[in-house]
Amino acid sequence: MSLSALETTAVNDAIAACAELAGACLPLLHHVHDALGYVPPGAVPHIALALNLSQADVHGVISFYHDFRSAPPLTHVVRLCRAEACQAMGGEALALQLKRVAPPDVTVQPVYCLGLCASAPAGMIDGRLVARLSPARLDQVLSGFAGQR
Ligand code: FES
Repeated sequence: MSLSALETTAVNDAIAACAELAGACLPLLHHVHDALGYVPPGAVPHIALALNLSQADVHGVISFYHDFRSAPPLTHVVRLCRAEACQAMGGEALALQLKRVAPPDVTVQPVYCLGLCASAPAGMIDGRLVARLSPARLDQVLSGFAGQR
């Protein structure tokens, strides 16, 4: 898997910035993820070589942390809290609603507690926290996405 010029620059920048840190793998991966929005699979051999790790080690870190994407994100990302407080306040119905009506260019991800338990159900929409998410509010958000296409 080869890297694009942009990906190569991001990976090289991350290696230069982080390779000498103790426990460099995680900050280096964050550096790449912050620059690109994902960690391209083709970056794994470069990162492994720079850190003197096996490719399996690097891949293990990427796959352990659910926040690391391996491909560019789709247009919008809706993260819905699936932890207890949010489930008790209607989170399951929201998850079913998302499954039913989310357009194909929307990435839907579960997340387990966003720290808004007192204002459940909670979600994160394109990086913005949303408290007291209701079916009507979710419809409004998804309609807003449609208006941006
Ligand atoms: S349980 Fe959903 S925000 Fe904490």
